Amino acid sequence: MNSIAAVAGFNFQVSSDICPIHGELKIKAGSSLVCGTCAKENVIQSNLEHQKTVDAMVRKKHFEGAKLPSRHAKSGFNEYITQNDGQRNAKELCVKYTKDFITGLTRNLIMVGRTGTGKTHLSCAVARNALDKGKFARYITSEDMSAEIANAWTKPDDNEAQAVYRFTEYDLLILDEYGLHDRHENRLQLVHKVLYARYDEGKPTMLISNYTLEELRKDLGDRLWSRFQHDGLEVVECNWADQRVGGVV
Ligand SMILES: Nc1ncnc2c1ncn2[C@@H]1O[C@H](COP(=O)(O)OP(=O)(O)O)[C@@H](O)[C@H]1O
Ligand SMILES: [Mg+2]
Ligand SMILES: [Zn+2]
Repeated sequence: MNSIAAVAGFNFQVSSDICPIHGELKIKAGSSLVCGTCAKENVIQSNLEHQKTVDAMVRKKHFEGAKLPSRHAKSGFNEYITQNDGQRNAKELCVKYTKDFITGLTRNLIMVGRTGTGKTHLSCAVARNALDKGKFARYITSEDMSAEIANAWTKPDDNEAQAVYRFTEYDLLILDEYGLHDRHENRLQLVHKVLYARYDEGKPTMLISNYTLEELRKDLGDRLWSRFQHDGLEVVECNWADQRVGGVV
């Protein structure tokens, strides 16, 4: 009656109770009787649940790190309505750009056009899909990025070079509202520094602006413009009426 069972390297006293699920004799664990197989399965199950919780937390942090604007929390490709050829083309190019990026075929993308045409929406859709595949994407307006770099020296553990480096490290940088920021030469230079550094590292950037392509080219300057085309530049022009105010399309 005092038979002994070994479970996970430990010896237990076997009872005469039978587990209705596994049909095996339960063992004595303290004052209770448990089935060894049930116990093992419970451990596996709780490990799985723990892993799921950890994975969900990592994923949450990963998405939070991208700092997508909260008003675009639901802006995905599926939510992007296509009512004209321009929108169909814009969506198609962005979907293709994302797929290529995920498979390691990287290049820059410029998205220009009027306010309210869904540029930020599409860029967030790109980011979300890239994040979903574990890529480090980061969204920021050029105003905020240049301010962060310019003010880096005021923080105890930061400086300009380090801030530029941070923005260089992301697998994909989405630089929105280019040109809308403080037009002081120094601020522009900081943005350009990041673009040069990303070029040197072979890291793709999505540059979004209300400028025309020609204005953008002038603003970036010939040297940066030609570097920006490296590996084939994707250009998305959004020139239809504002979607936000229900404009005619
Ligand atoms: N084609 C579209 N389908 C669905 N929503 C759109 C579309 N275009 C714009 N929007 C919505 O209109 C609002 C403005 O778009 P946004 O991406 O901020 O424009 P932009 O960055 O070009 O100024 C957002 O709420 C966005 O989700
Ligand atoms: Mg925008
Ligand atoms: Zn059992």
